[in-house]
Amino acid sequence: MIGRRFRQVRTEQAKHLWGCRAEDFVTVARPDADWWKPGEHAYFGEAYRTIAARFPRDPTDSDLTEAAVTTREADLVCRIVAAHFGARAPRILDIACGTGRHALELTRRGFDVVAMDLQEGCLRIARAQAPIACTAADMRHLPLADGSVDLVLNMWNSFGYFLDEAEEAGVLREFRRVLRPGGMALLHGDLDAEAALGGQWVEHMKVPLGEGAIFLARQVQVPQLGGLACLSWVVFPGEEPFQSPAFFMRARDDASWIRQGQAAGFDAVRIERLPGAVRREWVVRLLV
Ligand SMILES: C[S@@+](CC[C@H](N)C(=O)[O-])C[C@H]1O[C@@H](n2cnc3c(N)ncnc32)[C@H](O)[C@@H]1O
Repeated sequence: MIGRRFRQVRTEQAKHLWGCRAEDFVTVARPDADWWKPGEHAYFGEAYRTIAARFPRDPTDSDLTEAAVTTREADLVCRIVAAHFGARAPRILDIACGTGRHALELTRRGFDVVAMDLQEGCLRIARAQAPIACTAADMRHLPLADGSVDLVLNMWNSFGYFLDEAEEAGVLREFRRVLRPGGMALLHGDLDAEAALGGQWVEHMKVPLGEGAIFLARQVQVPQLGGLACLSWVVFPGEEPFQSPAFFMRARDDASWIRQGQAAGFDAVRIERLPGAVRREWVVRLLV
């Protein structure tokens, strides 16, 4: 069932956190340093996966199901691959692959893909759909030889979780290490960093998940952390809400992408914002 693996809390408590001053919210929504790790009630567990599969990426377009979004995102990857690699078929690492939606689609389109994620539960779902190469791995320590892939894919806001920015720099160095000459790391997301950093961020999000369930999230920019401290709830009619653990997303401006990409040893950094009325999609290309 959607979101029931999160912790059930009293309605009054959730209402207080939804409406209290941002300074007070942040004292509760301060994420643990390892909030992203696996565990029964962990953020990226079963509850997250069911929410992600139902999450309306664009509330104005009900046809935009997860499958439709995946097709669109795979098209985007193919466009970039064709422009960069030409006729050469790249060997792809999809990290963090989640339930493998991009890895599966790209494998189906004939690419050689290896998929990795920290959560075994995600990989089990991926493997159940097709016999793709999946390995549990932490993006900070990739179990791959130096120079062994052409394209590192990091899709849908899968970067920016570590409270310590030095760990993120380490991840970019790992991406660089496993890439062959001429390769590329392609990071993609729809977190609107400009809005978050410019104080234009929509702090309260409320969307329907179907079956009468509502998803709520409050995301507060915390300058000392360099990103958004967040809590979310799933509410079923007539029940007390289920609250996620506190989670974190770093918001990066273009200058910090360029600085961090170069510091990790990439030769060039290209940032592209994709047109779209609701989703603020972007891709960052780090080139070797
Ligand atoms: C926002 S989801 C995106 C998943 C997938 N790319 C997609 O588009 O559906 C982020 C994923 O990052 C994984 N993750 C979090 N921290 C990780 C780490 N340190 N190493 C590897 N994967 C990690 C989570 O398990 C989760 O599946």
